Amino acid sequence: MGVLYNQIADRLQALIKDEVYRDGDRLPGVRVLSKQFGVSISTILQAHQTLEARGYLQPRERSGYFVRLPAVDAPEPVMQRHRNRPVPVTAREMALDLCADEQKRMVPLATAIPHADYLPLRQIQQSTLWAARRGLETLDYAFPGKESFRRQIAQRMASVGVPVTLDDVLATNGAQEAIILGLRAVTQPGDIVAVESPSFPGILQALEVVGLRALEIPTHPADGLSLEGLELALEQWPLKACVVVTNHSNPMGARMSDERKKQLVSMLAAAGVPLIEDDIYGDLYYAGERPRPAKAFDRTDNVIYCNSFSKTISPGLRLGWMLPGRYMSSARQQKYFSNLATASIPQLAVAHFLEQGGYDRYLRSARQHYRDATERMRAAVARSFPLGTAVSRPQGGFVLWVQLPEGCSGTRVYHRARAEHINVAPGLMFSISDKFESCLRLNGANPWSERIEQAIARLGALAHEEQAQSV
Ligand SMILES: Cc1ncc(COP(=O)(O)O)c(C=O)c1O
Repeated sequence: MGVLYNQIADRLQALIKDEVYRDGDRLPGVRVLSKQFGVSISTILQAHQTLEARGYLQPRERSGYFVRLPAVDAPEPVMQRHRNRPVPVTAREMALDLCADEQKRMVPLATAIPHADYLPLRQIQQSTLWAARRGLETLDYAFPGKESFRRQIAQRMASVGVPVTLDDVLATNGAQEAIILGLRAVTQPGDIVAVESPSFPGILQALEVVGLRALEIPTHPADGLSLEGLELALEQWPLKACVVVTNHSNPMGARMSDERKKQLVSMLAAAGVPLIEDDIYGDLYYAGERPRPAKAFDRTDNVIYCNSFSKTISPGLRLGWMLPGRYMSSARQQKYFSNLATASIPQLAVAHFLEQGGYDRYLRSARQHYRDATERMRAAVARSFPLGTAVSRPQGGFVLWVQLPEGCSGTRVYHRARAEHINVAPGLMFSISDKFESCLRLNGANPWSERIEQAIARLGALAHEEQAQSV
């Protein structure tokens, strides 16, 4: 059902884009549309609400629904091309401030964490209680991971084109640990690792803890890592690994096409450089089929695949997994040396939840929520921010990348907003240089409310003020 009303909303939106219905037109009544599309009236009403959330429709009392084109539709950011050199990573303490701030009940637009209302609380509570009653099974070191958990992972991986056995799966404390273990398995301190630019700060921090140098590769807001940029880097530097968030990346929301994933995998295989793939947002696609991971195109076992349930079930479970491929023995060793094993109860609970079969149903509604909330936020940014602001248009996940007009400081907007209890992530956090100083990342995974709407309007006003001061 959720999918159906979204499909109807997409079809109506396409009719609006093709100007079959123009700005100010009244849409046919719900009964007419219900006949036209062959769906129930309540599906049409839900589709209308979805389009209203996306900023395309306006209800008028007793008159029906009218087309209202978003007043301004912000363009998408452009890829920043720059020549980079490998540099040691030093953490930006801002990342810690952001997490601490969010716990102080600020408006939570900074961290990429889904609002608790969107998480499957009841199901995970029931499965955790079930798991806790398993007795002795919960008490041992679950190394390399509980069998039932690894079986569920193997089944899910097969469904995205990556057939593996239970022995190929290593349970981890989230995707963050998987990335660190992957890096430790294939590098030595001081080595150079290619990363996206902008990059998820956790990946930069992972490089820092392992003592690596980062080489930033320009990344396109829609297409992902620049393959031309990577090719140049491979010619110029002795890279030892490349870390990429292939589906709905953080912070840009980029998704590499299958073709580009294939090219990425084969380029790196030819150069003998392992790809560490982070697929944490892969299940959160807005439409169509689940995008495949690059691992599905890996013919030489050169891709170390990392994922977790932090963006889907809950970040607090601290439960992820990796498929280290031919680096398994080294990854296992690193895991064992750093914390022996991943806690048993979350693994048993998640395995139980997945076995019950409700997970895919839950994912369908979560994807819907994230899509609606993110599109609504995008429309609000386009309305409130200065002309010349660009906003990413993700096809999945829930973060928005906002590029302010030239001369407008995202860092200043961040500090001023923070003083007013609005928490956003400043662009500075996403690079080892200052090149994204004029950017902000917003978390769209919040139920829409007046508080969120006002916070976006206030951020827009602050950006206007900063822009005025910069000229
Ligand atoms: C791209 C990406 N990778 C990894 C992580 C960390 O995931 P986990 O909580 O599973 O360690 C995040 C969390 O924000 C993320 O956005």
